[in-house]
Formats: sequence, structure tokens, C-alpha cells
Amino acid sequence: MASTSMILFISLLLAGIISPSASQNCRCSPGLCCSKYGYCGAGNDFCGPGCQEGPCQAPAPAPAPANGVSVADIVAQQFFNGIINQAGGGCPGKGFYTRAAFLDALGSYPNFGRVGTTNDSKREIAAYFAHVTHETGHLCFIEEKNDTSQDDYCDKRFIQQYPCAPGKKYYGRGPLQLSWNYNYGPAGTSIGFDGLNKPEIVATDVNTSFRASLWFWMENVHSVITSGKGFGATIRKINGAYECDGKGVDSMNARVGYYKDYCKQFGVAPGDKLTC
Ligand SMILES: *[C@@H]1O[C@H](CO)[C@@H](O)[C@H](O)[C@H]1NC(C)=O
Ligand SMILES: *[C@@H]1O[C@H](CO)[C@@H](O)[C@H](O)[C@H]1NC(C)=O
Ligand SMILES: *[C@@H]1O[C@H](CO)[C@@H](O)[C@H](O)[C@H]1NC(C)=O
Repeated sequence: MASTSMILFISLLLAGIISPSASQNCRCSPGLCCSKYGYCGAGNDFCGPGCQEGPCQAPAPAPAPANGVSVADIVAQQFFNGIINQAGGGCPGKGFYTRAAFLDALGSYPNFGRVGTTNDSKREIAAYFAHVTHETGHLCFIEEKNDTSQDDYCDKRFIQQYPCAPGKKYYGRGPLQLSWNYNYGPAGTSIGFDGLNKPEIVATDVNTSFRASLWFWMENVHSVITSGKGFGATIRKINGAYECDGKGVDSMNARVGYYKDYCKQFGVAPGDKLTC
């Protein structure tokens, strides 16, 4: 250390601006935080996660506690059959989608359909299955119908973060037709599969397929319906660019029709703000 900086160091030490002796047990000056590594300072590195003392940042609020609703009781086998039985005999989804796989996937998402009142739970579950019904044609389709499309659903704006693998296509697969590299990447990271290199698994492993749909729902749609924005806002989240603001009225109305039907089956009012 050059002598001038040594002098500066000592004078800062005397002024109490830096205090290496305090860094082990972290008795920081008022206003400073003791970091997870035992150093005093301000800002996120010191006051953020792991902060031991001082004006630590409050941890992110815990998610709302799940209510005691049993989603499995609401999604009875009879309800599930009422959807898939409307799919024709030649439908690939008939030998694939099962209620058991939905329930298996549900285990990873304890807040799905379990926020608010029992009626709120029923509305969220009705909304999820309304979109599933529309996206898959009553659980007929596993993969997007138009797979002759040249589009690989690789959004180049996200290729740094979610690089598309050569020859892989991120078209719609599974109950909510997970699409785009920017969804396959993080869905895989969250669930535990290689979404960018092996997107096919969403169409071949039914538990993963349902998990991917619930991952998408919890990331994008759950907060919209649980905050009371209405079913119309869920359509906007899922396919708003093509169905809202007068663009695809028939599709939008089809989703609303399924939603009202399922609310009726569950014995709950659908609420307002149904369209978008
Ligand atoms: C899918 O979930 C079901 C129900 O929990 C389980 O019995 C089955 O082994 C799972 N399948 C796979 C491939 O993990
Ligand atoms: C299928 O994909 C092709 C190529 O992208 C497109 O031109 C056509 O409109 C699509 N058909 C349907 C029914 O979506
Ligand atoms: C739940 O919905 C039903 C049907 O709309 C209604 O009769 C009942 O009062 C609602 N329960 C609560 C607690 O709001």
C-alpha cells in the first residue's frame, strides 16, 4: 500500500468511516446493515437477503396462505370425463391426458385454486379448465394443430437468455399449449427438464405436460383471476393479441361459454368482466 493511501486509510479508520474491526461481529453504525458475510454497509448487498442486523430489507411477503379447499374434490373424475368425453375417438389426447396426471402436477402448485374464498377457488379452477378445453379442443390435441407451420416459435428478442436449439420448435404443446422459447426455457428450469433442447417432453410426459400448463398459469394468469379482474383478463393474458379488443370474438366467446358452464357445474356465479 502506498504511503499516501495508507494515510488515507488510517484517517478514514480514525474517522470511523471504515471499521474493519467491526466487520466480524458486525456492530454497524446506525443506519448500516450487517451483510450475510458479516460486513457493514448500505444497499442491497448488505441490507438484502441474508442481512443479519440493522435496517435490513423486509423479505418478500410470503404468498397468501392457501385456503383449505381440496382442488381434487372439485376436479372430480366425472368433471374431467365431462370434458375429455367430448373429444372424438381419434383424438391423440384421449390416450394421454388424465385426471391423475393433473393431480400429480397439482402437487407442485399448492396455491393453484386455493386463494380467497371457496367460490374464488371454484372460479379459478373453472377458468383454468375453460382455457384448457379451448386450447386443446376438449383435451383432443396434445400438439398444436397446425404443425405444418414454418414458424419455430423462436422469439429472437429472447435468444440471449433462451437460446433456441437447432431444429427444435417451440409450438403449442400440452393443456395450455405452451409456446415460445421464452416460455419453454423458464418452464423447464422451474420444473426440471431441458425446455430448450427437449421441448417434446411437454407432449410426451403427461405429468410434465400438466406441470408446464400450471407453471404458465401460476406465472401469468393466477394473479389476474385471484385479484378479481374477471375472466376476460385471463383471456387477455393467454391470447389477448388475437382475441381481445374485437379481434377474435368467436374464440373469446367460446372460452367464456366453457367458463360459464364449468362455474355452473361447480355451483358458483361466474362474476362480471367476462370478456375482453
Ligand atoms: C405421473 O403421475 C402419476 C400419479 O402421481 C404417477 O403414478 C406416475 O408414475 C407419474 N408418471 C411419471 C412418468 O412420472
Ligand atoms: C398454418 O400455418 C401456415 C404457415 O405459417 C399459415 O399460413 C396458415 O394460415 C396456418 N393455418 C392455420 C389454420 O392456422
Ligand atoms: C358462493 O356462491 C354461491 C352461488 O353463487 C352463493 O349462493 C354463495 O352465497 C356464495 N358463497 C359465499 C360465501 O359468497
